[in-house]
Amino acid sequence: MNVENAIGVFDSGFGGLTVFKAIAQQMPNYNYIYLGDNARSPYGDHSFDTVYQYTLECVEWLFAQGCPLVILACNTASAKALRNIQQLDLPKKYPSNKVLGVIRPTAEVIGEMSQSKSIGVLGTRGTVRSESYLIEIHKFFPEVKVYQQSCPMWVPLIENGEHENEGADYFVRKYLDELLRQSSQIDTILLACTHYPLLVPKIKAQIGANINVVAQGDIVAKSLLNYLERHPEVNAHLGQQSMQSFYTTGDTQTFDEHASVFLERSIKSIKVKV
Ligand code: DGL
Repeated sequence: MNVENAIGVFDSGFGGLTVFKAIAQQMPNYNYIYLGDNARSPYGDHSFDTVYQYTLECVEWLFAQGCPLVILACNTASAKALRNIQQLDLPKKYPSNKVLGVIRPTAEVIGEMSQSKSIGVLGTRGTVRSESYLIEIHKFFPEVKVYQQSCPMWVPLIENGEHENEGADYFVRKYLDELLRQSSQIDTILLACTHYPLLVPKIKAQIGANINVVAQGDIVAKSLLNYLERHPEVNAHLGQQSMQSFYTTGDTQTFDEHASVFLERSIKSIKVKV
């Protein structure tokens, strides 16, 4: 059965499932199509142009499936492709479609979560180098100090199913040390990559209980709910038959194994070429 008028949720791979899970929990009635570009993941080290091209291809594929609204559940794509898509592609080719990212909703609230007003941001190289979080957080919280650290080995560990194994401990400790060395005042760590929540048990095991670790899923879900309340004209076009389907550009068996464990139910994905 076709999933009609779905909310499209896109990520380079499995990471967006952390956002999808939170959105679908808070808004279970809506229809969803998840697309993971696993065949071309990770995006973190790709150039601006490549991330923009890949993201646009995936967004256009979701539009072709009838999604009026697409969430870029990927910080790298939100940092490197969202602005171009919103300012160039939508007005020219898809004036009635919407694309939303994950950086702005996170930046709007993260400053309130830190007592010491010192926040550590962990992300891919692409997200860190774009300085999107520095810029966006300072718009809402000019007094907050933001320290950034890229963690280029974390997404490959997750995409290859190695994130719960012993070998991952070394790389978890390495990047946390590099971040926390920048300031002893950091009391809040933002996981600014949608893959990273899968490493939360290992991250928490490495840091003191006085440091708050923040994942984006619930923040993005709350913000989407709020957006749809403020935009009834968008909401009116969304199907609400609680239907969900999952697509990957990569290997479906691998996707199904990972996604089923993560979403705690059996997932059967479909392979696509975007
Ligand atoms: N989950 C992505 C993000 O939030 C992905 C990263 C990648 O593909 O490197 O940035």
